[in-house]
Amino acid sequence: MADKFYITTPLYYVNASPHIGHSYTTIAADCLARYMRNLLGKENVWFLTGTDEHGQKIQRQAEAEGLTAQEFVDRMVLQFKNLWQRLDISYDDFIRTTERRHTEFVQRALEIIYKKGDIYEGKYEGWYCTPCETFWPMSKDVAYLCPDCKRPLEKISETNYFFRLSKYQDWLIQYINKHPDFIRPSSRYEEVLRFLELNKLNDLCISRPKGRLSWGIPIPFAKGHVTYVWFDALINYISAVGSFDSQNNYHSEWWPADLQLIGKDILRQHAIYWPIMLKALDIPAPKTIFAHGWWLMGESKMSKSKGNVVSPVEMTDRFGVDAFRYFILRDIPFGSDGNFSEESFMKRLNADLANDLGNLVYRTLTMVEKYFKNIIPPQPNRIKNNQAKMIISKTEELSKTLKISLSITRDYNFSLALEDIWEVINMANKYIEDTKPWNLVKENKTDELKEFIFVLIDTIRKITEFIYPFIPQTAGLIKEQIGQEKINKGKPLFPRIKTT
Ligand code: MSP
Repeated sequence: MADKFYITTPLYYVNASPHIGHSYTTIAADCLARYMRNLLGKENVWFLTGTDEHGQKIQRQAEAEGLTAQEFVDRMVLQFKNLWQRLDISYDDFIRTTERRHTEFVQRALEIIYKKGDIYEGKYEGWYCTPCETFWPMSKDVAYLCPDCKRPLEKISETNYFFRLSKYQDWLIQYINKHPDFIRPSSRYEEVLRFLELNKLNDLCISRPKGRLSWGIPIPFAKGHVTYVWFDALINYISAVGSFDSQNNYHSEWWPADLQLIGKDILRQHAIYWPIMLKALDIPAPKTIFAHGWWLMGESKMSKSKGNVVSPVEMTDRFGVDAFRYFILRDIPFGSDGNFSEESFMKRLNADLANDLGNLVYRTLTMVEKYFKNIIPPQPNRIKNNQAKMIISKTEELSKTLKISLSITRDYNFSLALEDIWEVINMANKYIEDTKPWNLVKENKTDELKEFIFVLIDTIRKITEFIYPFIPQTAGLIKEQIGQEKINKGKPLFPRIKTT
């Protein structure tokens, strides 16, 4: 498909309620999808998100709540869908790994790889981390604790099915070397490449005996086994947008994905397992896997297992959806970690949204109301004021600067893009302070006053287009308040929050 943009988020586990970390990836993907559709005018944007519903964690949680796994996931998925609706997430498709379109596709993929000889039966003996659903090889270093989450490992020994990751190691190293944009930011690219150069990949155990775990996709050629949850879940990115023909060739108008957003916690699965699985299926790798940083609480990653999560529902109830979207995208550069604190949240809300943007709009509309009876002055033939000229040219530059900040070369720097937009907002506020419009009124300088108001309204209109991908509700409200010829002043967009 011409000029398409296919963007994905990870599929979130439904074992607990979504928190700020999950919202982060989803809001970032939404912002980019809206940017591509509305500002870059791409006609073919496809934004996929969804839920990861199989595996031991979910089976255990369902048991703990006295529900069948299916009942449990059916209930939990609503929390995700409701949150995305609340946060204005404009996804095009939501895939659940328990849907038939997915389970059947996974079984087909397993069969194709098995027939090709890249899946084989073997015995597994070693350590297993149940919360991470990860095998760890027998090694003294492991010392019974999961190297990732530091919780106790379980010792297991069983017959399983293995996927030949090792066979493709050299291919993957070469592939990554030839595709500098495949993994971003570049620190993650280096990390994966170094890992592959220094370690020998073990084949991946992609089955679980039903006796231990029944909640998974049955493996068609192994009656007693279900599919390992990661092998199942990764396939969603292709099962949602295409199908195999009778010759086992995959067809999709969207694949390869243009951008797959993930957190850095799941880089190994996406940058190593995933391209190799695709290679085994003769399907091209995604163009870019981008791993962003973590929201921390204090020093540690916000996560449901640590119990230090902040609820996006509570934050948006208290402060509004757009304040939340703005903060999440503005406060830390996309690739880095950042600390979440209510204090910095409220600071940004008061400074950037209430003071800068909110005041600009409110003051401007008040002037149109007071000086021109709600009628927007027409465009003058020529703009005379120098400050106005500078604002106009800076606003015009915004399309270019945003195109750069929101590109792969700048690692999708939402924060920088917002800084650039805010520079114009602050120039406009300064223009009001410097011009002192009440003096123009006193001195009967009507033409100057008209030019002044026109430039402000025009700047706000243009800014509204640029803020839309980040804070779409606010953009909508501003549009309602500034019509074609008349204004319709409403309440201030962002009331100040008391911080003490
Ligand atoms: N189900 C797997 C992903 C399968 S993708 C085929 C999974 N799910 S998860 O529910 O644990 O979500 C992980 C993702 O949530 C991270 O990769 C990241 O996108 C987001 N985040 C979860 N906690 C986070 C933070 N504290 N900070 C930022 N994002 C994090 O892993």
